Amino acid sequence: MVLSINSNDLLYFEQLQPPPQTRTSMLQEKKDGSTNYSKKDQDDLGLWEEKFGNFLDIKANGPSSIGLDFSLHGFQHVYGIPQHAETLLLKNTSNEDVYRLYNLDVFGYRIHSKMGIYGSVPLLLAHKPDRTIGVFWLNSSETLVEITTKAAMKVLPSQIPDVSKQRVLPQTDVCWMSESGIIDSFILMGPSPFDIFKQYAQLTGTQALPPLFSLGYHQCRWNYVDEKDVEGVDTGFDVFNIPYDVMWLDIEHTDGKRYFTWDKETFGNPKRMQKKILMKKKRKLVVILDPHIKVDPLYTIYSQGKERGYFVKDRKGGDFEGICWPGSSSYLDFTNPKVRDWYAELFAFKTYKGSTEILFAWNDMNEPSVFRGAELTMQKDAVHYGNWEHREVHNLYGFYQQMATAEGLIRRSGNLERPFVLTRSFFAGSQRYGAVWTGDNKAEWSYLKISIPMLLTLSIAGISFCGADVGGFVGDPEPELFVRWYQAGALQPFFRGHANMHTKRREPWLFGEKNTQIIRAAIKERYSLLPYLYSLFYQAHTTAEPVMRPIWVEFPKQLEAFGIEDEYMLGKALLVHPVTEPKVTTVSILLPGSEEIWYDFRKFSCLKTQGILKIPVTLDNIPVIQRGGTIIPLKTSVGKSTEWMVDVPYELRAALDSKESAAGELYLDDGHSFQYLHEKQFLLRKFTFYQNVFSSRHADGDPRYHTKCKVEQITILGMKKQPSTVTASIHGGKNKKVAFTYDAKNSVLILQKLSLHVGKDWELHIQ
Ligand code: GLC
Repeated sequence: MVLSINSNDLLYFEQLQPPPQTRTSMLQEKKDGSTNYSKKDQDDLGLWEEKFGNFLDIKANGPSSIGLDFSLHGFQHVYGIPQHAETLLLKNTSNEDVYRLYNLDVFGYRIHSKMGIYGSVPLLLAHKPDRTIGVFWLNSSETLVEITTKAAMKVLPSQIPDVSKQRVLPQTDVCWMSESGIIDSFILMGPSPFDIFKQYAQLTGTQALPPLFSLGYHQCRWNYVDEKDVEGVDTGFDVFNIPYDVMWLDIEHTDGKRYFTWDKETFGNPKRMQKKILMKKKRKLVVILDPHIKVDPLYTIYSQGKERGYFVKDRKGGDFEGICWPGSSSYLDFTNPKVRDWYAELFAFKTYKGSTEILFAWNDMNEPSVFRGAELTMQKDAVHYGNWEHREVHNLYGFYQQMATAEGLIRRSGNLERPFVLTRSFFAGSQRYGAVWTGDNKAEWSYLKISIPMLLTLSIAGISFCGADVGGFVGDPEPELFVRWYQAGALQPFFRGHANMHTKRREPWLFGEKNTQIIRAAIKERYSLLPYLYSLFYQAHTTAEPVMRPIWVEFPKQLEAFGIEDEYMLGKALLVHPVTEPKVTTVSILLPGSEEIWYDFRKFSCLKTQGILKIPVTLDNIPVIQRGGTIIPLKTSVGKSTEWMVDVPYELRAALDSKESAAGELYLDDGHSFQYLHEKQFLLRKFTFYQNVFSSRHADGDPRYHTKCKVEQITILGMKKQPSTVTASIHGGKNKKVAFTYDAKNSVLILQKLSLHVGKDWELHIQ
């Protein structure tokens, strides 16, 4: 038995009851015209109203909480339920706060806190060496999760007389409690972690395939102040020879925080800016669009929203008003399909003046954030479409805004182009609409460190496209931290530098020549790895495999790996160990797997150790290690942005395992449209190295995407013997001799000047 339900008898549900007024009159009737309540009646009435500071929450249906416990037998390692600034491994909450899932705007959130921050995914995973299971508690109201790990005595019936044969097994009890809603939960049976990811994706969907540009580097700041500033920063990247794909504009670009508008003074000609500065250099723009709408009858979005009744209502039936960036604001009710439809239309080029096809979107403050609101969010008794109280749908608010925004971007392109939308708030399934980031972190080492478990937790909860503000949002990073953050961010799924308005400028070249050179190298390495990263996203999209993975997911039997959160796998081939402390000269890395061979990704040397390896580090880079048995596609050179690199040839980097074989994949398409889906215009190449034959073939359907791109170089790590000849045999062509170099010291074979078509089948015979 792996799981039992209600073993601790904690199943409960409160019954919906009439609101206080009705109840009051019922009481009056019963009491022969008397209006006095008994003490008990008054206590009961108290449950319909709750005070939170100065806020009064009146519950339309009375107390309506639900709860249930699950006992996970044999499990002591549990993961998931983002978002908290906490460890990867969930903690026993018997003597600590319980985990809270309640989407909140928490500026510079506290580390090792279990209070809710921006988003919630009520999915918990439990793992032991031979089994992974999952519990998905589908509820969008405020939810608490209690975790109790204990030792439970198990006795097999045949062993009853023999007390010495009793076995002590761990058990983790998980109790979910939600403020309202229904008990609707799913048990995912695994048995492997990858089965759980698939099973969860069947319920909530897989990661949307991002447009390729969005896997490049993003440059953001609150704020790039005007067109000239944008131009200067954009040029800076070229002057300092650093690739980047996307320029971002924060709230100050608008006319008084009226989203979908531009400040007339500072961004007087946004189309020209996009065309002359960004489009010309094959780069993109992302602008911010928050869900609060300035109360201003002259602002069309406000007046239309008001006229059509598209705002969330307060409990008295008026439009809910709260304070946010623009001052007094109303909040679009994205739970209403009509509002989403209307909002999506706002992205039409003719409606969104000054927008072009290179403009994409950033949804922020969508918990929703309400300054001076209870816990800085909307009152729970606000009312949504269909008369749902806000308490019921709170954790879904941001999810629905991102859904509507993504739909808007798709529609404006005539349903041809993939959208890119970054959101701060999220819920189970948000992966279908774009990317998520971890909000307002601080420019401190501890925040760099916690970003790794935070991103791993998001990743195993279905949200592969995630990242943290590189450099740290609040405060000024010291140069070493800044450099280390770029090195970490370059090997994480969503890679964006961002900074608060009160910080010093920190474009990547502002920290001296040496640091600029190191940051440049980190960003360039990311760009050379993009074919691998994009292929991983294709796998996330089609088979729900997370892009960034905890070590235990790849090595599910290795107990030592279960709590590791300072290193992770990027796909199955690369192990990454960011440096998250100052002045580090060596790092200890767990090299998992007893049979595995690992190679230094940059020096190509074989790392002979098993278990813990101590490696020296300098400021130049962070350890990246390739796993034997894998082949990684890379670009051989890097351009100004992803679009400049379309025709750049590939290198395939093979690392051999103990059987002297390796395998890998490359996914390739136009990088921006839905043709891969509708017309099957993509290539999925499978590469294998086996018995000294390196081969490339198509792995899925007809190869319908055409490219001129070539494989120029193949590097084979762990090649024990120097070959005498290497011959290329191309399907339908003549055999050709191939030039190679062999490094006997490191056992590395490099095949150069290959000119093999990436879309064609071919083989290389090494003799
Ligand atoms: C919020 C966001 C931050 C943004 C700021 C201004 O604090 O988390 O990223 O820069 O609002 O829009």
